[in-house]
Amino acid sequence: MLFEPIKLGSLEVPNRFVRSATNEWLAEDDGTPTTAIVEMYEELARNDVGLIITGYSYVNPRGKSNEKQQGIYADRFITPYHEITSVVHKYGSKIIAQIVHGGRQSLVRNDTVLLGPSVVKDETSGKTPVEMTEADILQTIEDFVEAARRTKEAGFDGVQLHCAHGFLLSSFISPYTNQRTDQWGGSVENRTRIIVEIVEGIQERVGSDYPIMVKMNATDGFDMYSGKIGLDAPECVEIAAILEEAGICAIEVSGGIFEAGDVMSQPDIDSEDKEAYFRRYAKMIKDTVNIPIILVGGIRSRNVMDHVLKVYADMVSMSRPFICEPDLVRKIRDGAPSVKCVSCNLCFDPEGIKCHYFSTEK
Ligand SMILES: Cc1cc2nc3c(=O)[nH]c(=O)nc-3n(C[C@H](O)[C@H](O)[C@H](O)COP(=O)(O)O)c2cc1C
Repeated sequence: MLFEPIKLGSLEVPNRFVRSATNEWLAEDDGTPTTAIVEMYEELARNDVGLIITGYSYVNPRGKSNEKQQGIYADRFITPYHEITSVVHKYGSKIIAQIVHGGRQSLVRNDTVLLGPSVVKDETSGKTPVEMTEADILQTIEDFVEAARRTKEAGFDGVQLHCAHGFLLSSFISPYTNQRTDQWGGSVENRTRIIVEIVEGIQERVGSDYPIMVKMNATDGFDMYSGKIGLDAPECVEIAAILEEAGICAIEVSGGIFEAGDVMSQPDIDSEDKEAYFRRYAKMIKDTVNIPIILVGGIRSRNVMDHVLKVYADMVSMSRPFICEPDLVRKIRDGAPSVKCVSCNLCFDPEGIKCHYFSTEK
């Protein structure tokens, strides 16, 4: 099944491997993608990755979360992104742009006012966002819609809304960070409204056949002793159903916000039972919705990949393993029992992502 094609809405992907969105720390200061980024995507496409999802690209400079992160907040970015999509398409891979607003987890600079649904301090940065006004929310919806239009004009096969990991859209769906009492908060439906409006806005602007996917938190990842009540099941299933109804074509299931610690990219995945750590959430969502489910998080061995496709999801998505081995799809096809990645997390490198564990500098 791993090497069978699949349709995500109108988009046909040649196999079930997804390179999950991975920030490269390689863009210019203003967010323009560099040649190094083009080369990285070319290498993945040359090595048969079915679906490549770009690193998160910010829709407004206020929502930038990292130094050297890619941006897509102005039309001048269309040409450099077009270079990436044309090179990837030469090899038959598909490529989706992930778009984001950092919200309360935006880059912390003294001059930056962080935006959030509610005034909830981020204990990792010590910063407190301001509560977004109605005008801020409407402007943010417009920023996402315009960013999506640019992705289409740049030749992407679709767009992924980043609704995971504590960034702005994720902070709206979470009951921990969204404590609003207006139409943008409270019930699950109200907390999901901003995403629904973005989806509808994109469909209106670029046509309803343009594939829109969502990477969403199924859990914020707080442990029971934290005293914090974040997003979790069963609410994540309800959110997925609302988004399916809005017209998205696939859901990538993830988890974790900064304050919850190492939930998103869990370290030391060294046995099959530690792999695919969001699988139970994926299964709950898959049992409720009818669109394809993409599972990310600690998938490492061929056995687990096959089992995920049988039980939990329709595609397997990986991030750290592709930093370590951009040619892992070919290796798995040729019989490798597992990827090499040891989940050490040294690849989170602001000098530009790189596998330090297997590099000669080790
Ligand atoms: C260096 C690095 C950068 C990442 N950047 C992004 C990103 O831009 N957007 C995103 O949704 N997730 C990002 N992630 C999270 C991954 O996409 C993925 O969800 C997570 O690492 C778990 O998958 P894995 O075990 O295969 O690495 C990043 C992960 C790493 C290691």
